[in-house]
Amino acid sequence: MKQESHVVTISRFLIEEERKFPDATGAFTNLLSDIALAAKVIGREVNKAGLVDIFGAVGEENVHGEDQQKLDVFANQVMYRALDHTGLVACLASEESEEFIRIPDKFPAGDYVVIYDPLDGSSNIDVNVSIGTIFSIHRKRTTGERGTLEDCLQPGSEQVAAGYVLYGSSTMLVYTAGTGVHGFTLDPSIGEFILSHPNMRMPEPPKKVYSVNEAYFTRWSRGQQRLVSHLKNEGGFGSRYIGSMVADIHRTLLQGGLFMYPSEVAKPEGKLRLLYEAAPMAFILEQAGGRASTGTQEVRDIVPTSLHQRVPIYAGSREFVDMAEEMLAQDA
Ligand code: AHG
Ligand code: MN
Ligand code: MN
Repeated sequence: MKQESHVVTISRFLIEEERKFPDATGAFTNLLSDIALAAKVIGREVNKAGLVDIFGAVGEENVHGEDQQKLDVFANQVMYRALDHTGLVACLASEESEEFIRIPDKFPAGDYVVIYDPLDGSSNIDVNVSIGTIFSIHRKRTTGERGTLEDCLQPGSEQVAAGYVLYGSSTMLVYTAGTGVHGFTLDPSIGEFILSHPNMRMPEPPKKVYSVNEAYFTRWSRGQQRLVSHLKNEGGFGSRYIGSMVADIHRTLLQGGLFMYPSEVAKPEGKLRLLYEAAPMAFILEQAGGRASTGTQEVRDIVPTSLHQRVPIYAGSREFVDMAEEMLAQDA
């Protein structure tokens, strides 16, 4: 007779993980549960996005000069409202807010700093392509009662947890707290995230796939151009590019490969943001056996100087990231 596998909800998984740490207060478990709740609320709106007329820009630009989509604004509010009153959080920071976000005085503050990209890949919303949410969690390191900008500007190596939610053909939450990477799939019929991908590891050997917006080829350095030409010619790589970082990284995590958002000659900083895109994904990939580099150093070693700072990124299977670094160095 076929053995039925056990159903493990995210709350049960978090509680069992917490039991491994006798000093744990439960605060971290509660924080992750609050983020999982926010993910369900955002996921619900994402899933019915085609049904109501909520598309198009709200009419204001975000701090990067990009049009804000309505769903971005909504997702940003959901993340904030899930966390502001909990007493777990010292301060917050979001892609959609220029400054770091203080916890209002009427609410107690806690020890954790949560930095997020509420909706990643928003240019894909109107065409029904996967989008996501990314989060990065640090511990407050200043001694005051409430968090400050300094608490947000910590290197990725100091993260205590990181994760993403993928609103794809199913909704998945993937996170690491430094003891492996665990993936949960939302069962919409019961509204629960169920453990579907315990202890995720990048495959060995990895699938030979590169992922980059190749339309920018002429803007790249000679080294970057040579790298991509090598991958597709002598390297025998295939190519996949969704244009939502969460979806591209998720595929890379499951199948292996090399995701790149390189610098351009006229834009050396690249596009993706260190604190809420590159660093959390780097932590997750590393925990699954992969790597993330800027091309010259580990993404997680960079000490941030501003909230929305950008960074070039080469992320995925370790051997491919190593190879990218070597080929880029030949150009220097
Ligand atoms: P966001 O929607 O949060 O601004 O992020 C979009 C990012 C990322 O998801 C994706 O990898 C990248 O932009 C795609 O950029 P290009 O359109 O330049 O390829
Ligand atoms: Mn993003
Ligand atoms: Mn975004």
